[in-house]
Amino acid sequence: MQVITTVAGVREAVRAWRKEGLTVGLVPTMGYLHEGHASLVKAAKADCDRVVVSVFVNPTQFGPNEDLQSYPRDLAHDEALLESLGADVLFYPAVDEMYAPNAATWVTVEGLTAGLCGKTRPTHFRGVCTVVSKLMNIVMPDKAFFGQKDAQQLAVIRRMVRDLNMNVEVVGCPIVREADGLAKSSRNTYLSPTEREAALVLSRAVFKGEELVRAGAATPLAVVEAMKKIIEAEPAARIDYVEAVDAESIEPVNTFEHDVLFAMAVYIGKTRLIDNFIAKAR
Ligand code: PAF
Repeated sequence: MQVITTVAGVREAVRAWRKEGLTVGLVPTMGYLHEGHASLVKAAKADCDRVVVSVFVNPTQFGPNEDLQSYPRDLAHDEALLESLGADVLFYPAVDEMYAPNAATWVTVEGLTAGLCGKTRPTHFRGVCTVVSKLMNIVMPDKAFFGQKDAQQLAVIRRMVRDLNMNVEVVGCPIVREADGLAKSSRNTYLSPTEREAALVLSRAVFKGEELVRAGAATPLAVVEAMKKIIEAEPAARIDYVEAVDAESIEPVNTFEHDVLFAMAVYIGKTRLIDNFIAKAR
């Protein structure tokens, strides 16, 4: 595996692969890789001849009072994991390699970014869309792989790719969970042992929601109420949102006419965690 820190270096590697007629997969990450990321790399390996994984803690997607400085980083671990998974390039640019000091261009997706995480993180998706567009322009992959855990992000990226005619297929990969149900996240590392225990309310609420949907729940709202009840019973948990939205448009819904995304963000102590599931249209 090559570790490349420059845009020109990645372009050169990709150009050489293209000459050989090879297909290229991109897995964008912010590093501190876990099994969720590993599942994306495995999916990319299975689907593409060559795989580029970017590790870049993107400053533009963090709000002023968020965890940019403390966001966990461990390049040696990431490099070893990616090597073992057979990634071909680890793209690890510095901030000034990705952003010119006078950068003035943003990619914004309207509508889908207003609700859910967009309510409390108003500039987050603009930062995500801008950096993902830049990565797509740098790598020019055939396919790009994203986790379903960030369901709103996935919907926003799909829309951006469609609206801007980007020549890439966006592949969504299932949520990977710990044995006890907690969705894998780099931010789980912030949790103390008692908070780690309390954080299980998120997956318990997801599993309850899935059960109610399987049992034929009358409305999405009834499912949301049951999920909220579970979370509210945990004293260490504070709900940011638990909502049912159209899985594609991220508009609030109260029917199962289209696929419904049940999404939540919950604070456990100071750590904000997200989880979700999708109920198929019926
Ligand atoms: O999901 C993430 O880790 C980030 O939002 C992404 C897509 C790598 C963009 O920085």
